[in-house]
Amino acid sequence: MTEGLTERPIRFVHRGAIVEVAGLPATTTVLAWLREHAGRTGTKEGCNEGDCGACTVMVGDLDDGGTVRWRTVNACLQFLPTLDGRALRTVEDLPADHPAPRAMVEHHGSQCGFCTPGFVVSLAALHANRPDPPSRRELADALAGNLCRCTGYRPILDAGEAMYALPAPAVNDDDATVAALQTLRADPPLAYRAPDPATGADSRFLAPRSLDALADAAATHPQATVLAGSTDIGLWANKQFRPLPLLISVGAVPGFKAITETEGVLHIGAGAALEDAWAALVAHLPPMRDYALRFASPPVRHAGTMGGNLANGSPIGDSAPVLMALDARIVLRHGGAERTLPLDGFYTGYMKNLRQPGELLWRIEVPLPGPATRLRAYKLSKRFDCDISALACGLAVTLDGERVTAARVAFGGMAATVARARAAEAALTGQPWTEATLEAACSALGSDYTPMTDLRGSAGYRVRSARALLRRFWLETRPDAPLAPSATQVWEVPA
Ligand SMILES: Cc1cc2nc3c(=O)[nH]c(=O)nc-3n(C[C@H](O)[C@H](O)[C@H](O)COP(=O)(O)OP(=O)(O)OC[C@H]3O[C@@H](n4cnc5c(N)ncnc54)[C@H](O)[C@@H]3O)c2cc1C
Ligand code: FES
Ligand code: FES
Repeated sequence: MTEGLTERPIRFVHRGAIVEVAGLPATTTVLAWLREHAGRTGTKEGCNEGDCGACTVMVGDLDDGGTVRWRTVNACLQFLPTLDGRALRTVEDLPADHPAPRAMVEHHGSQCGFCTPGFVVSLAALHANRPDPPSRRELADALAGNLCRCTGYRPILDAGEAMYALPAPAVNDDDATVAALQTLRADPPLAYRAPDPATGADSRFLAPRSLDALADAAATHPQATVLAGSTDIGLWANKQFRPLPLLISVGAVPGFKAITETEGVLHIGAGAALEDAWAALVAHLPPMRDYALRFASPPVRHAGTMGGNLANGSPIGDSAPVLMALDARIVLRHGGAERTLPLDGFYTGYMKNLRQPGELLWRIEVPLPGPATRLRAYKLSKRFDCDISALACGLAVTLDGERVTAARVAFGGMAATVARARAAEAALTGQPWTEATLEAACSALGSDYTPMTDLRGSAGYRVRSARALLRRFWLETRPDAPLAPSATQVWEVPA
């Protein structure tokens, strides 16, 4: 027994049938289970850290309408117990007449073939979720988490376009999957325990299903690792071999993922997938679209959460600069007690923040800016897609006519934490939004940060680039002849 919960095996749906797994450590990845225990080696291991997409699989959840919503994730990052109550679909589970593999064959989308299962799964997920043919650009976005070292992307994109002209598969196992998922709904919340040969101790996994049970579990076990999307924690297990004896998963609590809007404030549950949280932000703030698309890749955004992105305290996390520019607040919960803090001030040092042991990041509250506020977010990284930022920023000015009445400038990658540029903000506030004011703010920016040199960029590059991004912001938002998005964006976005 664990906290009144009866321990039981992990149960999920694969190929239309319920699979039960017991006896494996809770940190066994879906990829390791597929390849080493289920004999399903079609799903490949490339990097084992979420970067290459060779391991891409689909995970299905039953929605309220009784249909399965399939989303891609990296099997190398997901621990097997996170499949509990859900469905798994891999490249080997697609019918032979599925349009995605057929189009890849017909358009020569594969050479060595190592990346191919991942591409096929990403294409099949797109095909399942998007009935009408996507544009070439949308295809490229959907494949941003898949790397190919030999074929080149043109034939793969051709295959993605061509699959929409092929007939749908004759047989579809979704009905069996729905029935099995409905059966699993009667299971009690997962409490799982198995010996871990690597540590000689038990490895445990708790997945409460209600908000109160989640808060209680975290407060009762302050030493536990809170597991959200596992896009950071998966690497702790795979690359750092860190022992993780007790995982408390937030993933089975629907209310923890909720996104709502009341009175001009967007409330984002900390467990909301990055994909959903950014979609909600972009719906209100269209200029954020390019930035949101460059956050990791679809499989990482489907699993990773906005709460995890803020809780990890990374100085190069992409959510914090934008949320700080928007003056977001975070709600923390410990047991039954909630407290609300401004995100600005939450970080106290490199990977450190004000969260106490046993306390959960509960919700993010984002005041939506009015029409007088101009907002942009920019990211610089060595690769356009699926790359960690060298530099990222959220920039906001509120204008009264041509005068800046308020300015919020936040950068990641410039200091040990994501931080605001107070001197630059002071140089902007109360001034006309002119080039002279911009120059003063750029000059002040030099005293706001003392960035370091690392593999993503030198200190000098970072300072020069931060100033250039501030200039770009002015060019796009100046009252007189602002540049059209097409002049400054890779993909044009609505104004
Ligand atoms: C291939 C790849 C590309 C990436 N690209 C980017 C990128 O472009 N930009 C970027 O910013 N990040 C990127 N990341 C990093 C990562 O995706 C994010 O940091 C992610 O948002 C972490 O969220 P998660 O839900 O996966 O957290 P997890 O890995 O589950 O947890 C991360 C940390 O947060 C804690 N935690 C999680 N949720 C809570 C909560 N509610 N309360 C308290 N503590 C909590 C965990 O205990 C842990 O310490 C990338 C990662 C990978 C693997
Ligand atoms: S093996 Fe490379 S993303 Fe999983
Ligand atoms: S076909 Fe060889 S890596 Fe893509």
